[in-house]
Amino acid sequence: MIALSLAEIAEIVGGQTYDIPDPAVQVTGPVVRDSREIEPGSLFVAFVGERVDGHDYARQVVDAGAVAVLATRPVQAPAIVVDDVQRALGALARAVVERLGAHVVALTGSAGKTSTKDLIAQVLQRKGPTVWTPGSLNNEIGLPLTALTATEETQHLVLEMGARGIGHIRYLAGLTPPRIGLVLNVGTAHIGEFGGREQIAQAKGELVESLPKDGVAVLNADDPLVRAMASRTEARVLLFGEAADAAVRAENVRLTEHGQPSFTLHTPTGCSDVTMRLYGEHHVSNALAAAAVAHELGMPVDEIALALSEAGTLSRWRMEVTERPDGVTVVNDAYNANPESMRAALRALAAMGEAARAKGGRTWAVLGQMAELGDEALAEHDAVGRLAVRLNVGRLVAVGGREASWLQLGAYNEGSWGEESVHVSDAQAAVDLLRKELRPGDVVLVKASRSVGLERIAQALLEGFGSSEGEGAVR
Ligand SMILES: Nc1ncnc2c1ncn2[C@@H]1O[C@H](COP(=O)(O)OP(=O)(O)OP(=O)(O)O)[C@@H](O)[C@H]1O
Ligand SMILES: [Mg+2]
Repeated sequence: MIALSLAEIAEIVGGQTYDIPDPAVQVTGPVVRDSREIEPGSLFVAFVGERVDGHDYARQVVDAGAVAVLATRPVQAPAIVVDDVQRALGALARAVVERLGAHVVALTGSAGKTSTKDLIAQVLQRKGPTVWTPGSLNNEIGLPLTALTATEETQHLVLEMGARGIGHIRYLAGLTPPRIGLVLNVGTAHIGEFGGREQIAQAKGELVESLPKDGVAVLNADDPLVRAMASRTEARVLLFGEAADAAVRAENVRLTEHGQPSFTLHTPTGCSDVTMRLYGEHHVSNALAAAAVAHELGMPVDEIALALSEAGTLSRWRMEVTERPDGVTVVNDAYNANPESMRAALRALAAMGEAARAKGGRTWAVLGQMAELGDEALAEHDAVGRLAVRLNVGRLVAVGGREASWLQLGAYNEGSWGEESVHVSDAQAAVDLLRKELRPGDVVLVKASRSVGLERIAQALLEGFGSSEGEGAVR
């Protein structure tokens, strides 16, 4: 964080100071909510959780080097006391971002936020010091904590914003007002909670409504609900996509035999070829979004294309491809799943299958529930099961309860029979089956919603093959 004195912080958050011998002492370390992350010079934020009350750790964190505690009641340690810690954290983030002078880029969408944020970060990092959301810390606590890790050197702040309802993005955009706001897509993630795609579009579009007149709304030209957001912003609009009128667009899109996208990137400064290290055609859209942001910040097309070609995965369990020494390839995409990302992953698997088949290998889709689909759940699971068959995926292993049975039934009704599609009750059963059946050359995709925890299957399959992923038994 940029150095601020306790007196300045107390004023920003409208708090009362307690037991602070010298209000001129500065917070120089990170602002943290987890006592294990304290460093000398930190400010500790005491949240009251369901099981743990941060206030109980006040003494301990100060002994570990924290300068003070941001709290809702006096503690046995130097403290700034406020009514609402979350609101105070937000106010502090906003004040710090205002003082920074960094370019603030915010992005939202139904699928691909983290993947795209990681791409933007890797591209912009080449231009200057960049701070970005670690993993998926995209909510009302993670966002300000991330913003507060920026320093005087930071030139770009890249922030993922998540929404579970109307008003969430507006709130987040108010904490760290972006000049560049990117909307990736409107899909069906969390549709059960939102009530429908229109509501999701309403919620995601709050990002472009929050942009200033001299800001830029970076919008996906290929998604009608996102394109329509152009009418909801005062900012200039920059379109990306495969549509002919997109200022930043891809031509000659194809997947290599390994399932990695390759295309010609066009920006207003020219064109350049990109072949990505990431897997799956959905990354074309993510890469174009990142290119649009980088273009807006003044990067020439050649530099952007090179950065996109060299970018890797920064966040785990997203299309993590590992080839075992015995020739079995495990694709761990178990971080999360919704219908769009299931389709994208299955198409990547199908592309990888072309190369696998040449070596006598087969493709396996080991899939579990897509959560939070509300009334759409049956139809969406059925459709994914059917798609696996249409894409000619060799074997479908549906893992788990009712939703998994819908996946398998969809595949069966689409024409898969016998062993081609099976339903197993849990991760262990899937691992037992795979250990028995896998042979060199096979490619195995593992994917389900976060709550299902299918990464355990990917980890078990890599166990004993010297991979860092391979620790821990299937539980
Ligand atoms: N543009 C895209 N369209 C469809 N699916 C995508 C896209 N980009 C990534 N995915 C897939 O969606 C899943 C989630 O990706 P990612 O974590 O990047 O999304 P997210 O929006 O950050 O998700 P969350 O809401 O959980 O934070 C992954 O399985 C990934 O392969
Ligand atoms: Mg995310």
